[in-house]
Amino acid sequence: FPFSLLLIPVAYCIGSVSFAVVVSKCMRLPDPHSYGSGNPGATNVLRTGNKLAAVLTLIGDALKGFIAVLAARAILGDTSLTANTESWILCAVVMAVFLGHLFPVFHGFQGGKGVATACGILFGVNWILGLATLCTWVIVATFMRYSSLAALAAAAFGPIYFVFLFGFQPMALALLVVCLLLTWRHRGNIRNLMNGTESRIGSGSNSSS
Ligand code: G3P
Repeated sequence: FPFSLLLIPVAYCIGSVSFAVVVSKCMRLPDPHSYGSGNPGATNVLRTGNKLAAVLTLIGDALKGFIAVLAARAILGDTSLTANTESWILCAVVMAVFLGHLFPVFHGFQGGKGVATACGILFGVNWILGLATLCTWVIVATFMRYSSLAALAAAAFGPIYFVFLFGFQPMALALLVVCLLLTWRHRGNIRNLMNGTESRIGSGSNSSS
């Protein structure tokens, strides 16, 4: 039995820690499922007006993606970005930590939309990839003031930046699946963006799911 396969369930458990819930509990804020979009994520925590809680949520959710991927790369070896068995295991680790955030075993499978965790994953894969995708988010968020739109744009560019940097490696496929899952989780936001009811960053609440 290849010991390295154990990285996959471990990554899922790491991803399953929802920092929106943990930080809110520690800081005596209401459960993020109970207000705004109901999403356990940094954007929704910001709707309480508590910026520190939102930043801590963002850092925690990003760090878990980053650490899971970085630890897996350290164990699997640096060949994990080319096409071999280790690279497919790394792809599974990426999927596992991301799915953990979306469907957390510790929180009744009611997880977030995956933006911060995807960002951490991309930095774990390669820092230039992470930075390019983060810059895309920042540019769209600055000009449009929609967290969701910025996330959707950044997610679409993530796999493209990867292919541009590394070519068609297995990881490109994993990142494409992450992008598609993230987009699917934002279907309520997409509906709101199209009918003009999506809330802008830092303003009030919305009803997206
Ligand atoms: O991180 C999720 C963000 O893109 C949208 O969050 O709460 O506005 O649905 P929210």
